[in-house]
Amino acid sequence: MDESLRDLADRFSQVADRYDDEHVSDEKPVYDACASFVVEHADPRPDDVVLDLGTGTGLIALALAEDAGHVVGRDISDGMIEQARSKAADSGLVNVEFGYGEFRDSHYDGEVDIVVSNFALHHLPDEEKREAIEAIADLAPRRFVLGDAMFFGSSDPEEPLFGHGVDAATAGTLVDVLTDVGFVVTAVERVHDQVGVLVAERPVDDSETGSLFAESPAEK
Ligand SMILES: C[S@@+](CC[C@H](N)C(=O)[O-])C[C@H]1O[C@@H](n2cnc3c(N)ncnc32)[C@H](O)[C@@H]1O
Repeated sequence: MDESLRDLADRFSQVADRYDDEHVSDEKPVYDACASFVVEHADPRPDDVVLDLGTGTGLIALALAEDAGHVVGRDISDGMIEQARSKAADSGLVNVEFGYGEFRDSHYDGEVDIVVSNFALHHLPDEEKREAIEAIADLAPRRFVLGDAMFFGSSDPEEPLFGHGVDAATAGTLVDVLTDVGFVVTAVERVHDQVGVLVAERPVDDSETGSLFAESPAEK
């Protein structure tokens, strides 16, 4: 892990045992709405493997484990991973695992059907966001759901809603990168001027009709 990532991981580890409780503030309704959209759009099937990048204390991973076949939560912070594991044990869910992984290398070798990430990608500088999205595309999920700080319209990046270490991109930039790596963006949820959820799907080539679907009609 490089030094800046190590610093970030350490900062999250220091607050890990208070993270869930301290997420109560003016930002909370926005965070909750964003998380709900991520869970709703991920919509896993019972046999799906879901990868949650920047899983933190496992909020999204644990919610999705109710419906998915298997959920893999990955994070750089040992403290956050420890909290997530403890919550998984308390929940009794046995189809969820947590461990070390980065956006650009998830440290998971299995096949992945759906990738999700909530409020984590903004920690990367813009160039690394592109590399992270390329790495996610390489995993060939049928769907990637990204909830995060992102600027819509003319929001002022000098006055970020989430002021702690945010390096948000515009929603348009993220849509461009997702499209560049081969996804079709099928939904955009504007949660707040500075927060949104993007749903990206891998097109399925329907050779009979010659058209491209985000997901084959038979699978919907
Ligand atoms: C604000 S928390 C969000 C956690 C969780 N997704 C949620 O919605 O509550 C951001 C998380 O991203 C993790 N993170 C930051 N940079 C990362 C990276 N490059 N790879 C993996 N995780 C990262 C942090 O350690 C932290 O746990």
